[in-house]
Amino acid sequence: MSKKLIIVDHPLVQHKLSLMRDKLTSTAVFRQLLREISFLLGYEVLRDLTLTTAEINTPVGPMIAPILEGKKLALVSILRAGNGLLDGMLELVPSARVGHIGLYRDPISLIAVEYYLKLPDQINDRATVLVDPMLATANSAIAATNRIKEQGARDIRFACLLAAPEGIKAFAMAHPDVPIFTTSVDSHLNEHGYIVPGLGDAGDRMYGTK
Ligand code: PRP
Ligand code: URA
Repeated sequence: MSKKLIIVDHPLVQHKLSLMRDKLTSTAVFRQLLREISFLLGYEVLRDLTLTTAEINTPVGPMIAPILEGKKLALVSILRAGNGLLDGMLELVPSARVGHIGLYRDPISLIAVEYYLKLPDQINDRATVLVDPMLATANSAIAATNRIKEQGARDIRFACLLAAPEGIKAFAMAHPDVPIFTTSVDSHLNEHGYIVPGLGDAGDRMYGTK
């Protein structure tokens, strides 16, 4: 297992995740839960942001107050399902710059195929959080990380909801410098590359497609 694997197992997260896994949970509730979990996950993912100070005046007097240092964060969503995590994290850091990488998994080869790319400028100077609920084979997360590194990103964290051991291993081999934040490490991948027990197809469950 990667040394850079952080499992966010707060009881609230685990409870919400169990509700999301349940196949009887509706699309609307699934989306709402993903949004709620993304706050709690985002809180941990952003725990080590660096601070500087600024002189401010409270109504009572002056103080040297902590504020975030450096350029605005970059949040990069792997479409489509990444948008569920993105929306919640964007509420935590409304000033973040947002990038999108469109990738779909070929159902037979499981290779990630890129169809869209738009990233914030000066990503090399921004702490960057790449988000996608599912780390299965890791083909998508590896391809997306390759892309943002090509554009100069250096300080990257990957945040997901569920990870398979196979995906964690592959991602850590490809990008040992990038920590993985997840709320659960599941058992294994099935013959179709789905996480077991997992929650099914995250994009389909978010948007009611299929
Ligand atoms: C899902 C998921 C990840 C990918 C994970 O996306 O959101 O992006 O699969 O699998 P991997 O680790 O084996 O690459 P999918 O390709 O189904 O696209 P979608 O989000 O548009 O539904
Ligand atoms: N993508 C999903 O949406 N679910 C899985 O279990 C694997 C990949």
